[in-house]
Amino acid sequence: MDLSSKDSDKVDTLMGLMTLTEKIGQLNLMAAGEGLLTGARQPTSLAERLADGQVGAIFGTKSLATARAMQERALAGSRLGIPLFFAEDVIHGHRTVFPLNIGLACSWDMDLIAATSAFAAAEAAAEGLHQVYAPMIDISRDARWGRVAEGPGEDPLLAARIATAAVRGFQGNDPGGKGRVAACLKHFVAYGAPDSGRDYDNASLAWEDLLTIYLPPFAAGVAAGAASVMVAFNAVNKLPMHANAPLIEGWLRAGTGFDGLVVSDYTGVAELTAHGLGRAPVAVARALHAGVDMDMVGEDYLRELPGLAETGVAAPDAGIALSAVEITALIDRACRRVLRFKQKLGLLEDPFRRMERAARPPARAKGRALARKAAARAAVLLKNDGLLPLSPKARVALIGPFAADRANMLGTWAVSGRADDVTPLHEAVAALTGRLPALAWGANIVDESWLVERLNVHGVTVQQDPRPEAEILAEALAAAAAAEVIVAAVGEAKEHAGESSSRLSPDLPAPQQRLVAALAQTGKPLVVVVFAGRPLALGAVAEQADALLYAWHGGVAGPEGVADLLFGAAIPSGRLAVTLPAHPGEVPSTYAAEPTGRPSPGRFAKFRTGWLDLPDDAPRFPFGFGLNFGDVLYGPPRLSRSRARAGQTVTLQIEITNTSARAAIETVQLYASDPVARITRPRRWLIDFRQVPLGPGESRVLRFRVTADQFSYPLAPSLQDAEWVRDPGEIHLHIGANSRDTQRTELTWMD
Ligand code: NOJ
Repeated sequence: MDLSSKDSDKVDTLMGLMTLTEKIGQLNLMAAGEGLLTGARQPTSLAERLADGQVGAIFGTKSLATARAMQERALAGSRLGIPLFFAEDVIHGHRTVFPLNIGLACSWDMDLIAATSAFAAAEAAAEGLHQVYAPMIDISRDARWGRVAEGPGEDPLLAARIATAAVRGFQGNDPGGKGRVAACLKHFVAYGAPDSGRDYDNASLAWEDLLTIYLPPFAAGVAAGAASVMVAFNAVNKLPMHANAPLIEGWLRAGTGFDGLVVSDYTGVAELTAHGLGRAPVAVARALHAGVDMDMVGEDYLRELPGLAETGVAAPDAGIALSAVEITALIDRACRRVLRFKQKLGLLEDPFRRMERAARPPARAKGRALARKAAARAAVLLKNDGLLPLSPKARVALIGPFAADRANMLGTWAVSGRADDVTPLHEAVAALTGRLPALAWGANIVDESWLVERLNVHGVTVQQDPRPEAEILAEALAAAAAAEVIVAAVGEAKEHAGESSSRLSPDLPAPQQRLVAALAQTGKPLVVVVFAGRPLALGAVAEQADALLYAWHGGVAGPEGVADLLFGAAIPSGRLAVTLPAHPGEVPSTYAAEPTGRPSPGRFAKFRTGWLDLPDDAPRFPFGFGLNFGDVLYGPPRLSRSRARAGQTVTLQIEITNTSARAAIETVQLYASDPVARITRPRRWLIDFRQVPLGPGESRVLRFRVTADQFSYPLAPSLQDAEWVRDPGEIHLHIGANSRDTQRTELTWMD
């Protein structure tokens, strides 16, 4: 069939011509290589499937030549000449690896996130890819969960804005356009709220929480035009997401109007059986019925749908009954969505449009410059007792297992990144200051050998020094003794965070805690730089350090961004997108927790919410927190009116002044709280923010629009019966530099 003709609707025409087998083949999403087996099934030979026209799409091709070869095979094997589309995990950059997404979130800079997404899209598109499995927009408030690294942090408004910016960057106005790719919002939904922080575990939460915390980023991504969505592995309130018709066909499609493609996660359909939802073919019928259009890797659709389309399914124990006719209609529905997706990408017109020579990757140097800027913007300055920025003339000892590290800087899910592309911190410092710092390993990353073995399952970057710890430390102290300033480079290995990498105790691994304590004892000025994939409880480190920089895993130019901040070539502007727990046991934690009847510290100090073994005044780094080099003062907030009708807009005005002689980038944050509502509401929640550059001594007046809809909330005895309400009465507005240090104003809605 000539798919390049423009006249008739090709999808309708194809649907009319395709056999059932061909339609089922379109629902099969395969992995390109042998790769690492991360799911329940070993993939079948791809060549075999391509020859039989039994593949709809492939992920993980890794090169333009491979994609081209596979496309040619697919076209040869498809009677109607239906092309494949190619996907990849482009999570925080492609070949040019940017900071982890949790780091990018800490930039609070939506143009930057759009720019890094656009650059990644251009690199991916030049490799023949059409879809990226990003953005990952799972809110998480649990530092134990390893995939915090990939996400936008703890706040729904920030995450929703990130979803919008990332979709804009990946897709532009057209996911099939030059240098663009289709975004895939994931993981739908509440994957970031697993029980006890264990990966893949189920989420049990109030429907109100689902509607106000976990779903808003997806709503925003859909509104921005995201072309696809990936379903999460977990169950939400007892129903596994791969069988969750009320959420997929209900909330997502009917509720938001999403009309794109829904893909399973890796063997997610097959995993319904382990969830207890029935064996194939029942599990397959449930997934298809729930709205999972493509089956990633498991091939259960391929195996089971032909039979189901003949017999239908009746499984009273699993609560599903569908006739053969109904199954056939569901196969049609899914196949049509796959074809529409291909049509949207322009593939039905030209299967090779991504593979033309004209599709050159963007200049790597441009990407590096963007990555360096992003790394500096992602790092959060948590403490600075006047030590930073350092003089380039200072004699520095750079100590710690990350001082000369490349591989870990890439962070988790950098499948196309190369450690060789990373400029390590000691070289970045040397390039900036003109002198190589004294260097020492200082401590092993972890000391439990079993943990090293576990980490190495994911890769082999966790190097250990076999010498006794005392010897390693003595060498570090000798380097420190000869220096004027110590910079300690500590943190987590990249395998510490990411998929299937939850930690029971999210803190700085013990050998590195001992290192920082020993360095602090020298009395020399001490800067601690933390490279990590999750928010860590820093404990005594926060007191021992004179300056503390939380740099995440910053990507190919991560260490250069850090060096820029250390020596004042860049100004710190990062703000925490996630609360750092005050103790590894203080999880989950969020600024937006609900109040209780016994707040802490309270009048009846013994009967309080809190822990016996954690002081109430333990040093805390709350959501939104981050320092500038100098001070920014906030004037009193003023409201345009203190009483308003629901249709009226109220303006909150505030003046901010940079009182220092250094430039600053301030992120002004506006929170709200509702002292009296029909149900308990969060203590406060973010309703807006604005990022503004301020020259030395500069003042600026900012205005925020406040509207009644920012105060509506759901009452939801069930998902279907959710009702959004808004009450008249007093609300509070809190404005400031982070979620804790704010000034309050009051406003009354008269209706
Ligand atoms: C499993 C992960 O959960 C998902 O995020 C990823 O996109 C797929 N594997 C494909 O690699």
